[in-house]
Amino acid sequence: MWFISNKILVRESGLLEGFRDCHCHLLPGVDDGVKEFDETVQILKEWELCGLKEVWFTPHIMEDIPNKPEELREKFKDTGTGLEKNDDLKIEIHLAAEHMMDGLFVKRLEENEVMPIGRDGDKLLVETSYYTPPMNMADIIERIKTKCYDPILAHPERYQYMDKRDYKMWKQRGVLLQLNLPSLVGAYGPEVQWKAEWLLKEGMYDYCGTDTHSINQLDMFLNSVMSKKIVKTVKKIAEAQEL
Ligand SMILES: [Fe+2]
Repeated sequence: MWFISNKILVRESGLLEGFRDCHCHLLPGVDDGVKEFDETVQILKEWELCGLKEVWFTPHIMEDIPNKPEELREKFKDTGTGLEKNDDLKIEIHLAAEHMMDGLFVKRLEENEVMPIGRDGDKLLVETSYYTPPMNMADIIERIKTKCYDPILAHPERYQYMDKRDYKMWKQRGVLLQLNLPSLVGAYGPEVQWKAEWLLKEGMYDYCGTDTHSINQLDMFLNSVMSKKIVKTVKKIAEAQEL
């Protein structure tokens, strides 16, 4: 009997054709992401095969990983120089950061020790702990806006303490939401997948990223299956996202 599957391998789905990744940990040796330059090259090559056009490296800046913008810029420069030797790599790379809204965040923000994302440098990628919200999160969000940045909340579907009401409330307060694509294939468990699918269905997402930390994690994602309908919906968001 013939039947047509409504699912497709991510690798073959065209999901990443023309994609601009706004969240990944490919700057080698600076956080819990890629450790060696060669792995960065390997991932970028794999992405080129998938049609990816642009990548924003977003290393962590947090109390536990106290990266300094100046050091990250230096490391990015070295990485860029290394990548220039790979003539076949056409992918465009940029540097920003993923900022944990922890005890040091406001100080960093006030001292301009943050790394905005986007060509106009007018957005800030932020995250919270998966388990508890930061104290005075509303106040922190307002401070970000006062500094003329649009806050982009990384992977809202991963925050265990957030529910449907929270997502709606943060959207109303001008927080942009960034989907981690692996959430849609169950990479972080069924509950995260369910939340991601709900947020997607409700049209709450503004940005999509891969949050890639390693080649193994990327391969697992590319070898997963996704519904064709979801691929279509995600592509629309990805095409509309302003970077
Ligand atoms: Fe991340």
